[in-house]
Amino acid sequence: MKAVVWKEPRKVVVEEVDRPAIQEPTDALLRLTTSAICGSDLHMYEGRAPLEPGTIFGHENLGVIEEAGPSVKTIKRGDRVVLPFNIACGFCFNCARGFSNACLTTNPKSHGAGYGYSGMGPYAGGQAEFVRVPFADYNCLKLPGTAGDQWEDDFVLLADVFPTGYHATEQAHVQAGDTVAIWGAGPVGLMAALSARIKGASEIYVVDCVPERLEKVRAIEGATPVDFSKGDPVEQIFELRKPHREKVQNLRPGAGDKMPGVMCAIDAVGYEAYADDAAGERQDPGQILRDVVRVVNPTGHISLIGVYFPEDPRGVTEDEKQGRFTLELGKAWEKGASIEMGQAPVKRYNVYLRDLIIAGLAKPSFLVSHRLPLDAAPDAYEKFDLRTQGYTKVLLKPAIRGEA
Ligand SMILES: NC(=O)c1ccc[n+]([C@@H]2O[C@H](COP(=O)([O-])OP(=O)(O)OC[C@H]3O[C@@H](n4cnc5c(N)ncnc54)[C@H](O)[C@@H]3O)[C@@H](O)[C@H]2O)c1
Ligand SMILES: [Zn+2]
Ligand SMILES: [Zn+2]
Repeated sequence: MKAVVWKEPRKVVVEEVDRPAIQEPTDALLRLTTSAICGSDLHMYEGRAPLEPGTIFGHENLGVIEEAGPSVKTIKRGDRVVLPFNIACGFCFNCARGFSNACLTTNPKSHGAGYGYSGMGPYAGGQAEFVRVPFADYNCLKLPGTAGDQWEDDFVLLADVFPTGYHATEQAHVQAGDTVAIWGAGPVGLMAALSARIKGASEIYVVDCVPERLEKVRAIEGATPVDFSKGDPVEQIFELRKPHREKVQNLRPGAGDKMPGVMCAIDAVGYEAYADDAAGERQDPGQILRDVVRVVNPTGHISLIGVYFPEDPRGVTEDEKQGRFTLELGKAWEKGASIEMGQAPVKRYNVYLRDLIIAGLAKPSFLVSHRLPLDAAPDAYEKFDLRTQGYTKVLLKPAIRGEA
């Protein structure tokens, strides 16, 4: 079968590899109809995370079950399913408490497993014609409809970015009426904004510098784009909030001046952040950490959903190489802010978000910019990595191999 294989930094190829087979009676084999490229794949693509050449990429997988192992009870050939990017067992201490992101039995070397990902176990990804699904009963979310229908491009986003964006708002404790600032208008930031909307936030600000991405922010009712290439984004948010502070916040004694920022601050960028004053030119891995601590109000909440890896082989300084990032802890502590971080437990949310899609109350596919055959992956990685030419979210369609 054909698969997208990583060879070396900034080089993936589409090549013939062995088709996966059922290895355990609890496995299933999925035939992919859509597999998305993720901002997370780009860290590996660039060589910014340790990775074996030959790894098949793809952790956002949607398709139809080709075959189910003899112990699989609830999934059968022909079922349409989407897979959480986390591979989890469902029965370990962490899975049993809902932390499928930290499964203790599926990754021989650590906690938490995933498809085609650095440090997340020996599993091939789904940017291919087929992928092996361990513990299929637990890891498949069943879907209505048929491959290629009106929900295809929404359902694939249930594998990662929609639940991850939702989780970002959970980590930030977003409630109805809340004020929310999100760094990054990539797929995760946009899905965090959509989730904040769904939860009924009153103000949502989304910071980025890429025009096409800032334009997508406008598609979310009540969300305001903030272009950090035009000036300090924290000051811009303080300024944008002024009318609300004057109208509403001043009604609360003392709140007008002492709470100029937001209650919920989300970092959907991570360590590959551009310096605020050098958009598209110079990276500063601590930039967003400083911004979110500044923007959050006393007693607010900070959510770090963007990735900070423990190792970065191409980091510039020794600290970056060793995953040491500076957080202004003193300021955060003084504000009494909560800080939550880590990988999203997709399974905690995917069923509810699926039902919102089916009910017509969420249409996350507004962020999709490209639908391409598998063969187009090398070119798509190159362009998506530059975040130019409108490459916001690329969906690969193995089932339409060869067609443009
Ligand atoms: N925690 C999880 O479970 C989880 C899951 C999926 C993705 N992620 C991570 O979330 C992050 C975002 O993912 P994505 O797919 O949206 O990636 P992406 O790379 O497409 O988006 C990141 C965006 O951040 C913007 N950006 C860069 N510097 C900035 C700055 N100083 N201020 C504001 N914006 C800035 C970029 O222009 C880009 O649009 C990545 O680090 C990804 O690995 C985490
Ligand atoms: Zn992803
Ligand atoms: Zn487990």
